[in-house]
Amino acid sequence: MADKIQIAPASGKLGILTPGMGAVSSTFIAGVHAIRAGLRLPIGSFTQMGHIRLGKRAEERQPLVKNFVPLTELNDIEFGGWDIFTDSVYDAAVNAGVLEKELLDQLKPELEQIKPMTAVFDQYYVKKLEGTHVKTGTKWELAQALMQDMENFKKEKGCDRLVMVWCGSTEIYLQPSDVHQTVAAFEQGLKDDHKDIAPSMIYAYAAIKMGVPYANGAPNLSADFPALEELAKETRSGTCGKDFKTGQTLMKTILAPGFKARQIGIAGWFSTNILGNRDGEVLDDPESFKTKEESKLSVLDTILQPDLYPDLYGDLYHKVRINYYPPRGDNKEGWDNIDIFGWCGRPMQIKVDFLCRDSILAAPLVLDMALLLDLGKRAGLPGGIQEWLSFYFKSPVMPAGLEAEHDLFIQQTKLKNTLRWLMNEEAVTHLED
Ligand SMILES: NC(=O)c1ccc[n+]([C@@H]2O[C@H](COP(=O)([O-])OP(=O)(O)OC[C@H]3O[C@@H](n4cnc5c(N)ncnc54)[C@H](O)[C@@H]3O)[C@@H](O)[C@H]2O)c1
Repeated sequence: MADKIQIAPASGKLGILTPGMGAVSSTFIAGVHAIRAGLRLPIGSFTQMGHIRLGKRAEERQPLVKNFVPLTELNDIEFGGWDIFTDSVYDAAVNAGVLEKELLDQLKPELEQIKPMTAVFDQYYVKKLEGTHVKTGTKWELAQALMQDMENFKKEKGCDRLVMVWCGSTEIYLQPSDVHQTVAAFEQGLKDDHKDIAPSMIYAYAAIKMGVPYANGAPNLSADFPALEELAKETRSGTCGKDFKTGQTLMKTILAPGFKARQIGIAGWFSTNILGNRDGEVLDDPESFKTKEESKLSVLDTILQPDLYPDLYGDLYHKVRINYYPPRGDNKEGWDNIDIFGWCGRPMQIKVDFLCRDSILAAPLVLDMALLLDLGKRAGLPGGIQEWLSFYFKSPVMPAGLEAEHDLFIQQTKLKNTLRWLMNEEAVTHLED
């Protein structure tokens, strides 16, 4: 086996910064406070509740992930972020209505102290939002201001390390252009206030420039282009994204690999959602929805490989809709109608009605990806795309030329084997015992 990888200890404090302090971010922060206080369990978090098998089955070594790899303790996390609204985390969590008010009230003194820093925002990129808590300046100046915010935060809170996770709204659909190709072109673009540089990219640039790992929880381009990839390699900051894999897409990537494993055909998959939170309102704008739609549609194709299985998946009709429906708030309802066919082509149907709470599913992912990105940084992994974290995303970012892996179970195997490799343990292949 190769020499043991040296992982710097998780000593001192980790600052987790979220641009966007709405439903997901406040549910995440309030949840960690509730867990620290012993009021709740970290359900949904692989790093906190998951076990990992080591060696042969007969060895019966199955430690908790958090006892196997040196992760930052929950008590050693400091929280910060930016938003275009001035609400404290307490207010944002009460407005989001995801966690119970009685629980939030027990945590009020701490949550009230966490207030967003002034955001980098431009309504051109998120049409449905209007905010006043916004910095002014050229895009270059804004990037410098974010870096200053990060320095100040680190100093004030006594943090040793930082990680940034984008929890801001979904921006309009943008494709990489010339300005995204090299670091030099991108920095010039910042100075020229180039229109193809959205706020999420400015945050990503600021983090990566400072060597801070960056995860993107939304489907926006953000850090997914050559210039920031190049910078991330230079500064050894890990990047991952895009779009938290929760709700309907999570169900899809659980179900589809099963159908394929049994060679069950699929004629059509119609997915529709109703949700009434701010995210739903933002996605009511066709330009923001287009970004989301791209992210949601790509999933089935790569799992099912219609080129390889034309008889089973060659004619699959896949449609995804999101409908903004205020009465539901964060309690989304996602319907799936799946038209499948079996032996001799006989048709069957499956209906899934998932009454899910989006932010409840997303919050543990924020925690996991922050802790694991920090682990990767301390282990000295090369900067840039961290493919082993694809497990968490709807549209995993891949190195150029490679297709994303969407199958949740392959993603999980990759994640666990990476952790085993980091700790000098054998990969589990299920080939022998
Ligand atoms: N909840 C989920 O399960 C889930 C799943 C996948 C992706 N996402 C994505 O995660 C993001 C957050 O979701 P949410 O439910 O918390 O949404 P939300 O609307 O409650 O919160 C987003 C926050 O970001 C702020 N914001 C927007 N642009 C900003 C900027 N440039 N700088 C700072 N703040 C900014 C908004 O003011 C808002 O408070 C969305 O993009 C959403 O699409 C959520």
